[in-house]
Amino acid sequence: MATLPSGNRDSFSSKFGVIAAAAGSAVGLGNIWRFPLVTTQNGGGAFLLLYVGFIIFIGIPVMLSEFSIGRRAQLNAFGSFKKLAPKTPWYLVGSLGIITAFAILSFYSAVAGWTLEYLVQSLTGKLLHTDDLVKNFSDFSSNPYRPVVWQLVIMTITGLVVYGGIKKGIEKFTKILMPVLAILIAFVVIRSVTLPGAMKGVRYLFIPDWSVVNFKTVLMALGQAAFSLSVGMGTLITYGSYIQKDNHLLKTASQVAFTDTFIAILASLMVIPAIFAFSVGSIDQMSPGPGLVFEVLPLVFKAMPGGVVFAVIFFFLLCVAALTSTISVLEVVVAYLKEELGFSRGKATLIASVSISVLGVLATLSFGVLSGFHIIGKTIFGLLDFASANIMLTFGALLIVVFVGWKLKKENFLDEISNGAKLKSSLYRVVFFIIKYIAPVAIGIIAVAALFIKGIT
Ligand code: TRP
Repeated sequence: MATLPSGNRDSFSSKFGVIAAAAGSAVGLGNIWRFPLVTTQNGGGAFLLLYVGFIIFIGIPVMLSEFSIGRRAQLNAFGSFKKLAPKTPWYLVGSLGIITAFAILSFYSAVAGWTLEYLVQSLTGKLLHTDDLVKNFSDFSSNPYRPVVWQLVIMTITGLVVYGGIKKGIEKFTKILMPVLAILIAFVVIRSVTLPGAMKGVRYLFIPDWSVVNFKTVLMALGQAAFSLSVGMGTLITYGSYIQKDNHLLKTASQVAFTDTFIAILASLMVIPAIFAFSVGSIDQMSPGPGLVFEVLPLVFKAMPGGVVFAVIFFFLLCVAALTSTISVLEVVVAYLKEELGFSRGKATLIASVSISVLGVLATLSFGVLSGFHIIGKTIFGLLDFASANIMLTFGALLIVVFVGWKLKKENFLDEISNGAKLKSSLYRVVFFIIKYIAPVAIGIIAVAALFIKGIT
């Protein structure tokens, strides 16, 4: 299909809009249910330092690579590779991105749906009156209807926002919800850190314990940094294609990375001190993910004065964090269907949402009626999660930096990030050096290790 001249292409209207949308993608369940616990269990401040180092030295350069590919090509993730490297197999990296988007969204939407159930259970008071929270979660997640309905609600909201387009859909939605998210988290942080006994948690979180840091911890910090910034599947290529030509891409990438990290730290201050204050269990025995938010944190809300209010706020903010991520994933597929196969935005959104929902429902049912169905020893949900987060995203990120460092070439990359030499920065060459030599080695190690060591990404 012919490419529209960039003047006619929908785009973000403001710098803040770009940051809200990209940070919306980055800030997700990973920041809230994984980062706080992984940090606390792996050396606290020591892990945090490693993490921040990886965000700055690897994460920002990779994010910048994605932005520059998308903005230069003015196309979706697949079309971008085709345009920038015609008659080569590089477009396969774009295909991988589209498939990864499909896989991620099918299980991410299931989990996002669970947050809605818990929001409702908090509102009705059911959650705080349940004695057996583990059973409550397994009863719900194995129910053949309820989680499916919630997942479809999530997919519908996601589809409606994406259908609205970039300015009027994604940008508008994230510009309102990202500040709301930050305010709500800050509100819960204040409650959490002022609880009696909370300081023990704060200390545990920040005081570095280098004795537990080993090779695996280092890999985990890098894996978490990459996952948290949403790099590796063309989300940021797609968003990059909507960024205006005068935008300072390095600045934008740094601001997005800062926001994501800041919110991850806030989320830790929201979760960890409260867990310590009410001594709801040994932190080292807890596992990140659903167990933390659906089984452990409700114990905290039960013990906390005014816990209902905080439970409602918490599950609402979790849902907002998930939704601003799901829209960015759906947009990857929609932009592809629209620009490569010629569908209108409406049809593309419908086709993408419906087909992802079909796979998504199968993933959801793998906690219930399909729990006995295994592929290579994993349920459908487990397989989608493992394949996308552990394999496809890391290989995607690796191929993207190799593409920019070795195929797109220095002049083109520098031209793009300096807006045609209008911007000057001595950092540009350093960033390119990282993209060409350092990032591929670091991500390559993760990509291989993630196949063998559990829990890295
Ligand atoms: N960054 C998201 C989180 O922290 C998860 C994620 C990874 C993601 N890759 C993505 C979200 C791509 C949207 C698009 O939870």
